[in-house]
Amino acid sequence: MSINKEIKRVTTYTLQEMKRAGVPISMLTAYDYSMAKILDSTGIDVLLVGDSASNVMAGHETTLPITLDQMIYHATSVIRAIKRALVVVDLPFGSYQGNSKEALNSAIRVMKESGAHAIKMEGGRSIKESVERILSAGIPVMGHLGLTPQSIYKFGTYEVRAREEEEANMLLEDAVLLEEIGCFAIVLEKIPSELAKKVHERVKIPLIGIGAGRYVDGQVLVTHDMLGINKDFAPRFLRRYLDAYTLIHDAVKQYIHDVKTRDFPNEKESY
Ligand code: KIV
Repeated sequence: MSINKEIKRVTTYTLQEMKRAGVPISMLTAYDYSMAKILDSTGIDVLLVGDSASNVMAGHETTLPITLDQMIYHATSVIRAIKRALVVVDLPFGSYQGNSKEALNSAIRVMKESGAHAIKMEGGRSIKESVERILSAGIPVMGHLGLTPQSIYKFGTYEVRAREEEEANMLLEDAVLLEEIGCFAIVLEKIPSELAKKVHERVKIPLIGIGAGRYVDGQVLVTHDMLGINKDFAPRFLRRYLDAYTLIHDAVKQYIHDVKTRDFPNEKESY
């Protein structure tokens, strides 16, 4: 649909419009200026400064170690690069759970110091008070349900969530709750597509899936995974669009060869 071409700047309102018009929402992660610049130039709708930076950029096993200061650093770099996309920033583990005042302070820091447009938080009823407090300060909140990696030590596995009825019902209730209290969208991660479909039938705000099937309003992937920079991660839901690992590897091998053989630099590359 033409709505995508007409958009000058994607806002939370634009996403609602896209949902209403049946236009799928595209979302990818970004953590640095150079990549964000390329991604924004493609017309991507949303860039998520995900706490997956903890894995992808810093090499941690989980998303838990990344700090609020580090998230703000990544977000600031991304914001400098973008002209069109909506930039959503993850509140990291430990910056909002349990204490709504601290949650609000964390969200305000992200918005003030990075210039981001919205924040994302993992969880439903357990973080209700924090979400409400942040929303009451005028900060848009994207929810995140299903597999919530900040709770990995509670789950003990990265397997598909909410296959059982009890957990599925709770997820459905949490999605309704997040909509009621004012979230502008929800990420649904690694849940059965039939459950995502049920959520879609119940809530009107945009649902962005990752491993949640096709009955949602948009899709998000980790950029480094879909570009094949990270070769080791190959879940069923991931579609690879490039083998960037091999491309970069081969280019660097060629560079080493050129240096070692004194082919580089040549006359034209010298002053
Ligand atoms: O941190 C992240 O990259 C995310 C996506 C997987 C949705 O939360």
